[in-house]
Amino acid sequence: MSSRYIRIFDTTLRDGEQAPGATMNKAEKLEIARQLAKLKVDIIEAGFPIASPDDFEAVKAIAAEVKGPRIAGLARAIEQDIRVCWDAVKVAETPRIHTFISTSEVHMKYQIKKTPAEVLADTRAMVSLARDLAGTHAGADVEFSAMDASRSEAGFLAEVLGVAVECGATTINVPDTVGYALPLEFGDFIRELYRLCPALADVTVSVHCHNDLGLATANSLAAVRAGATQVECAMNGIGERAGNASLEEVVMAIRTRRDSFDCETGVDTREIARTSRLVSTLTGYQIQRNKAIVGRNAFAHESGIHQAGVLSEASTFEIMTPADVGLADNDIVLGKHSGRHALRAKLAELGYTLSDADLQDAFARFKEIADKKKQVTVLDLEALVSEEIRERQDLFTLRSFVNQSGSTITPTSQVEVEARGELKKGRSFSNGTVESVFAAIDDAVGISGSLADYQVRAISAGKDSLAEVRVAVEVNGRSFNGQAVSFDFMEASAKAYVRAVNNAAAAGEV
Ligand code: KIV
Ligand code: ZN
Repeated sequence: MSSRYIRIFDTTLRDGEQAPGATMNKAEKLEIARQLAKLKVDIIEAGFPIASPDDFEAVKAIAAEVKGPRIAGLARAIEQDIRVCWDAVKVAETPRIHTFISTSEVHMKYQIKKTPAEVLADTRAMVSLARDLAGTHAGADVEFSAMDASRSEAGFLAEVLGVAVECGATTINVPDTVGYALPLEFGDFIRELYRLCPALADVTVSVHCHNDLGLATANSLAAVRAGATQVECAMNGIGERAGNASLEEVVMAIRTRRDSFDCETGVDTREIARTSRLVSTLTGYQIQRNKAIVGRNAFAHESGIHQAGVLSEASTFEIMTPADVGLADNDIVLGKHSGRHALRAKLAELGYTLSDADLQDAFARFKEIADKKKQVTVLDLEALVSEEIRERQDLFTLRSFVNQSGSTITPTSQVEVEARGELKKGRSFSNGTVESVFAAIDDAVGISGSLADYQVRAISAGKDSLAEVRVAVEVNGRSFNGQAVSFDFMEASAKAYVRAVNNAAAAGEV
């Protein structure tokens, strides 16, 4: 018997972006979408087109440029949402309208303020509208989600899902929106829905689990065992609140325990580590060291007994190998004598296509790194390219900074920030060294940001490593992340802060 194929629906760019502070610009989203295509996910949920003009443009650009995966846009079960969503995704080879409405009692009563009869009627009308729009394109399809499905009354939910199938949805998603489900219960719930709604046998049943109780992966896998053939997940598990089921965990569990699941996905697992790093860099969300699959320690064996075992036979303590997830090839790639061609070729191999102008800038940065560091690794190149990608759309760029500090003086800083084409100067005297640089940037840009988080780390081993700084900055009560690398941690700090300011500006807060 051949194994069941499980579709991987990646929502890093939609639910993932809803994680506080994780806003990305269009260039960043496009880069992640290209990498998700290399990872070979089946569906990329590129965004929520009605949410903002920027979101619309990003979804449209991804739909136009990224080939391979199906490109989905999210829409409430509201006519205007669905039409705008269709306008954004229709240029894709295989577009999807993903429409949703709440079905639990508490959501119907307090969130959308509709009766069950109204929810049924909206489902009928809006899935039909989506089907009609999708019907104009040979490759298009419709997904329907029942929000808060896991807390919905099974009989009513089955009725709604039946209507959605009848009206043309070919994927039916059962979200655990608030992360309330338990694995055994959720598996039973999916089986019960198959029983109550026989039409589900003819469509793809999907699940979308949140991680509020740390059970998103377990619940997704329980649903797969119960018959679901699509899992919605996000890279590094990012998403609303505690996040979504983590793509790398779901995929590697299905692969590693194929003996138990008898299922497979189409994901090229060797692209997992790179995708994870890219998402972490561009969202500013650091990965915890002990995170399964992609954390720094995921393949580190500390105790002597474990190390000896792995050296004599890897399977003694490793159920997967670093190579399986693409962690084995981060070594030296280029050196100080490498030229422009070598850099272009290596970047192409890593999946980056830069315009001539961007390559020119990247080469200048590469030379700077190679002069200071004998061996330039994949991690260094990724850091360098991420900077290039993001600066393409920046409104604010750090042009210079001077910082004076010491144990006997009050730290002072002066900065020059190019702001929408104009050079602005800022200065400050503050208690802390880093604080004074941030205050000078505030002065230049004319905001009053408050620092909610600040982290520094070396991106690779060795004293000559680039320093990476991540910040979370609150502007007008909203949180924005920023990340940057430099040999100078103070410069990385200033750039990371300016990056957060750019993200705030893109969200209309500056
Ligand atoms: O968590 C949820 O229910 C969602 C839906 C929009 C699918 O994100
Ligand atoms: Zn969600």
